[in-house]
Amino acid sequence: MEFKRHRRLRSSTSMRSLVRENHLRVDDFIYPMFVIEGENIKNEVPSMPGVYQVSMDLLVDEVREAYELGIRAIMFFGVITAKDEIGTGAFVDDGIVQEATRKVKKEFPDLLIVADTCLCEYTDHGHCGVIHNHDVDNDESLILLAKTAVSQAKAGADIIAPSNMMDGFVAVIRQALDEAGYTNIPIMSYAVKYASSFYGPFRDAADSAPQFGDRKTYQMDPANRLEALREAESDIEEGADFIMVKPALSFLDIVRDVRNNCDVPVVAYNVSGEYAMIKAASQNGWINEKELVLEMLTSMKRAGADIILTYFAKDVAAWLNEDNR
Ligand code: PBG
Repeated sequence: MEFKRHRRLRSSTSMRSLVRENHLRVDDFIYPMFVIEGENIKNEVPSMPGVYQVSMDLLVDEVREAYELGIRAIMFFGVITAKDEIGTGAFVDDGIVQEATRKVKKEFPDLLIVADTCLCEYTDHGHCGVIHNHDVDNDESLILLAKTAVSQAKAGADIIAPSNMMDGFVAVIRQALDEAGYTNIPIMSYAVKYASSFYGPFRDAADSAPQFGDRKTYQMDPANRLEALREAESDIEEGADFIMVKPALSFLDIVRDVRNNCDVPVVAYNVSGEYAMIKAASQNGWINEKELVLEMLTSMKRAGADIILTYFAKDVAAWLNEDNR
């Protein structure tokens, strides 16, 4: 009887390492952080153990922890109380994310700061753009989004990452950045962003839940696959330098589709709900957190992601450092 002996290549740790197809590296990660107004604040987000809202005075120390673990890309989200109809806090030059960017960039010049370009953390209604007739007005929101991107670049952001899912945001932001002299600042488009229930814990962390309705008129229907390719394709045509798929875990097929159809770096966002599920199960002693996280993030690489945005970035960096010793 003839058959294939696949187990030959699984016979030992060294053999398995030799034939391993996908790897996690600390360079793959972008670490998201929440900056809150006030002083001496470090609030743990209840649904995200290990993730904190940190005030500006404690921020550099927080960032240093990540930096010393080898992380070279972070993303800031702002948490403020004075919100208004148009999300002014997003685009003023002394906005919380702009200040955080300036401060951290001064301490760590080679740390890449990725700016999440959206209005939802700054609007009193919690939507990602300007409201007209109970819905987000696409073209008017674009004007504010472009202003936000330019103010972030001016503060020193290295990458602009628009996440509000308005049509044309890449085109409008590219033009605004170019006109302001930031022709070398790349755009990481949240091109493929689904209207997902996996964002729940983030909306607590960033205080950005919509106060009425939902985001289904701008974020994508989780049932759709072909639409993801249309979104990615048009953003690349408009000038996107990276394409993001979000969430990651339930959308690994989409990560693969985008990888197969686009030739720009693909980013997967391992979102707050994915983090919360693992933390909750781990705290109950139901799973092995380290093994599960490494398996989950490696599966994102296997699906075709080049870069992973994850709240686990520091943990993984520490594990990788340990394992290399
Ligand atoms: C802003 C934004 C959201 C997330 C990242 N940027 C929230 C949303 O669309 O409601 C979610 C990230 C996460 O869940 O970890 N638009």
